[in-house]
Amino acid sequence: MILAAVPAGQGCIPLPSQTNTLTITRPDDWHLHLRDGEALAAVVKFSARQFGRAVVMPNLKPAVTTVESARRYRDRILGALPAGAGFEPLMTLYLTDDTEPAEVDRAKASGFVCGVKYYPAGATTHSDAGVTSLARCHSVLARMEELDVVLQLHGEATGAGVDPYDREAVFIENELARLVKRYPKLRIVLEHVTTAAGVEFVRAQDDRVAATITPQHLLLNRGAMFEGGLRPHLYCLPLLKRERDREALVAAATGGDTRFFLGTDSAPHPRDGKESACGCAGIFSAHAAIELYAQAFEQAGALARLEGFASHHGADFYGLPRNKGKVTLLHESWSVPKRYPFGSADLVPFFAGEKLSWKQAPADGGA
Ligand code: DOR
Ligand code: ZN
Repeated sequence: MILAAVPAGQGCIPLPSQTNTLTITRPDDWHLHLRDGEALAAVVKFSARQFGRAVVMPNLKPAVTTVESARRYRDRILGALPAGAGFEPLMTLYLTDDTEPAEVDRAKASGFVCGVKYYPAGATTHSDAGVTSLARCHSVLARMEELDVVLQLHGEATGAGVDPYDREAVFIENELARLVKRYPKLRIVLEHVTTAAGVEFVRAQDDRVAATITPQHLLLNRGAMFEGGLRPHLYCLPLLKRERDREALVAAATGGDTRFFLGTDSAPHPRDGKESACGCAGIFSAHAAIELYAQAFEQAGALARLEGFASHHGADFYGLPRNKGKVTLLHESWSVPKRYPFGSADLVPFFAGEKLSWKQAPADGGA
């Protein structure tokens, strides 16, 4: 067994004895945008090839605000899957100022809704129907706490005076700290945590508060968005942050703490929506999600911790069984395509035209 040195405080962790292949329990994606219609048909196969399940975001137009609309959306997702795919979409409801507590009861009874998603109004793509103030949602949050339905947070403050780089920290200070006190049993996922402050906050809570981490926030800092010119395909929300934030995220993801787990936030937009005078936020990473995470874990000398982060921690938090199947990654350099078809448009993937050092084995259904 090879032992690799890891950053201070984490001790030594074993690496797989054979580092040219890595076999792990089939992972899950705990935060994913699949879209709808022809866009859905173009992207869902990528997630189904790698993941057993995915938590599907409800920010369609119109938003998925009811269990009934989540049921119909789920059917469309299942209908768009390649034949034989064993992929399970876990649905979410979009919280609004008008969501009724009875909808939480229906969500709990449905067996296919795994949480309720909070978007502050105006925070990001299709968030105009989002919540204007958490204070308006008291009865719904109280019901979620009672029935143990998970709250998934887009944790950014949206006030006009808040600097875009401070939105997560301000949300934590002004909203989240109060929320965890007011609902002491409510289980919360701080989705796509991006800052050292966010990591610190989660670490300071008990294990009912968790966070997902995206591949882009593990691999890049905010400098990447401006390297040699403006790079619209690296624009996502929350924004990429400073190097010290990225380092804190890598330490959280690779440190074995079960409160941090995989959530790609893969969010496809047509190329012309990104390459625009007012471009859309979102990075499409589902084409190579597990390989991107493997790259980040390898760089941190922590490949042996990938399985926990990708395949165990999220399932355990959501109280779902871990997947039974496996996926194998080969240590093999490959070039990410520059484009993928996206209905009548095309889609520029994360790392387009660049090399990755891990590739999912074709025997798993990998390309
Ligand atoms: O960059 C993002 N894109 N962040 C989000 O929160 C939403 C997502 C999208 O739906 O495009
Ligand atoms: Zn998202």
